[in-house]
Amino acid sequence: MPDTLIEAQAIGRTYRQGMTSVDAVAAATFRLQSGDRVALVGRSGSGKSTLLHLMAGLEMPTSGTIAWPALGSAETLLPEKIALVFQAPSLLDPLTVGENVALPLLLGKRPGDIDRAVRDALATFGLADLARKLPEELSGGQMQRVAMARAIAGRPRVVLADEPTGQLDQPTGRALLDALLAHLAGTNAALVVATHDALVAARMETVWQMARGHLTEGAKTAEGT
Ligand SMILES: Nc1ncnc2c1ncn2[C@@H]1O[C@H](COP(=O)(O)OP(=O)(O)OP(=O)(O)O)[C@@H](O)[C@H]1O
Ligand SMILES: [Mg+2]
Repeated sequence: MPDTLIEAQAIGRTYRQGMTSVDAVAAATFRLQSGDRVALVGRSGSGKSTLLHLMAGLEMPTSGTIAWPALGSAETLLPEKIALVFQAPSLLDPLTVGENVALPLLLGKRPGDIDRAVRDALATFGLADLARKLPEELSGGQMQRVAMARAIAGRPRVVLADEPTGQLDQPTGRALLDALLAHLAGTNAALVVATHDALVAARMETVWQMARGHLTEGAKTAEGT
């Protein structure tokens, strides 16, 4: 029986924008279970990033309810149980690549060999040579891959990746996804990838479609069935 990792009932997130407000997410109902592979697709501004932030417990919904039955309360999720790979670059400038990847492991007080976990995570994405570099020495695509290595280093139960291939050419993007899926195949972690890339979406089992804040669960993709 798969674990229910995230369960949401009619959640919404309304932002104030001056005199008006925008329903970034509106009445979204879904369940994420261990082992799920989900592509979150939809036009720019449809609410994908907001939904990922709600799933991570980073923001709380302004309506509806969300719970993490197999994980615990919202405050305990990041960065150990749920890893969120932000859409924007998120590496800390003064730290080397290796130190950036080690940071959530240190914060999570995870027992075990942190150096080794960092090395393995970097190697997973072909980044072993970059461990001592500073973020400013990296390309945008390399930063994105380091952020992904940081996300998986602590072996989270859920990986939420916000357009992880957005800055990559297609072969590099495909290689990143291959490496991520191969890594996760050995775990029962769930993966949700927000993406504008049809090739990325086609690799997931399930597609969730967002339109103006509304979420509809699409059909299973051919690859996933
Ligand atoms: N912090 C915020 N304050 C006010 N409005 C916000 C905030 N974050 C998002 N929004 C609004 O919520 C809506 C959804 O934004 P969101 O970033 O979730 O979309 P998205 O689907 O991730 O878009 P993209 O594909 O461009 O990344 C947009 O109308 C956006 O302007
Ligand atoms: Mg976004």
